[in-house]
Amino acid sequence: MQTKTTSVPKIPPLNRLAGRRIVVTGAGSGIGAAIAQLFISEGAKVAALDRNEAGILAWMKSGEGIALSMDVSDETQVNDAVHRAAQAMEGIDGLVNAAGIANQDLLSEVSLADWRRVIDVNLTGSFLMARACFPYLNEVPDSTIVNLSSGQGLQPFMRRGAYAASKAGVISLSKTLAMEWAPIRVNTICPGAVDTPMVRSGYTEEVLRTQVGSRYALGRVAEAIEIARAALYLTSAESSFVTGIAMAVDGGRSYH
Ligand SMILES: NC(=O)c1ccc[n+]([C@@H]2O[C@H](COP(=O)([O-])OP(=O)(O)OC[C@H]3O[C@@H](n4cnc5c(N)ncnc54)[C@H](O)[C@@H]3O)[C@@H](O)[C@H]2O)c1
Repeated sequence: MQTKTTSVPKIPPLNRLAGRRIVVTGAGSGIGAAIAQLFISEGAKVAALDRNEAGILAWMKSGEGIALSMDVSDETQVNDAVHRAAQAMEGIDGLVNAAGIANQDLLSEVSLADWRRVIDVNLTGSFLMARACFPYLNEVPDSTIVNLSSGQGLQPFMRRGAYAASKAGVISLSKTLAMEWAPIRVNTICPGAVDTPMVRSGYTEEVLRTQVGSRYALGRVAEAIEIARAALYLTSAESSFVTGIAMAVDGGRSYH
């Protein structure tokens, strides 16, 4: 397949999150940083969380939001950060769980420590964040949770066993929360390959552009803003009757 060079269209902000207070994890890089910035441009108050606070401070302008350093896999740090975010924003209307780590081991070779770390951050971290935010989300109308799974959670590759299991778990976690916590809406995004530091650590730019991009019907990998727009849809009133879905945002990979 020929690699296409399609530019990502610009969309002007429409104030779709005016007055909403959203916690975004993984906001120090890649997709989480794109989501936090898009949400601020759409009128939200944002608490940006990451274990790498410097990554947040690299894009956040003074007074634009609050930056908190924390580890999503540590229950005490999660509870403390969510409490501080709720105090600073005077409540929480939404959560986006974008913090995550990858692994590239065969299941016959992955160490138990690496397996546990991937599950702890990607799956348990999403659960801990949701649980800590629940009391705040439960006392306001139209609250939302968006969890970042992956195309790997729908259709795993070899050498991604722990990651794929954690991301399939995120889909299942989200569906259960959507039932147990309704009317809080809980949805999952399953991105294909996105050009972020996570993916750049596994592929050269050339391989990303040609070999990886050619796996997708659209012939390219995504930009982080294209995933952020899906998170915006699922967080805004535009998706008011959507809950419990696993939305593939993958340039047409998972349907064939
Ligand atoms: N990039 C892709 O191709 C792709 C595809 C599908 C799904 N995803 C998922 O999207 C999410 C964002 O990925 P990305 O590509 O932007 O990655 P990234 O590596 O660019 O950013 C991930 C961020 O999460 C933070 N983080 C990691 N572990 C943490 C922890 N324990 N506590 C707090 N913060 C932590 C990192 O510091 C980093 O800022 C992840 O959940 C990832 O699995 C990414």
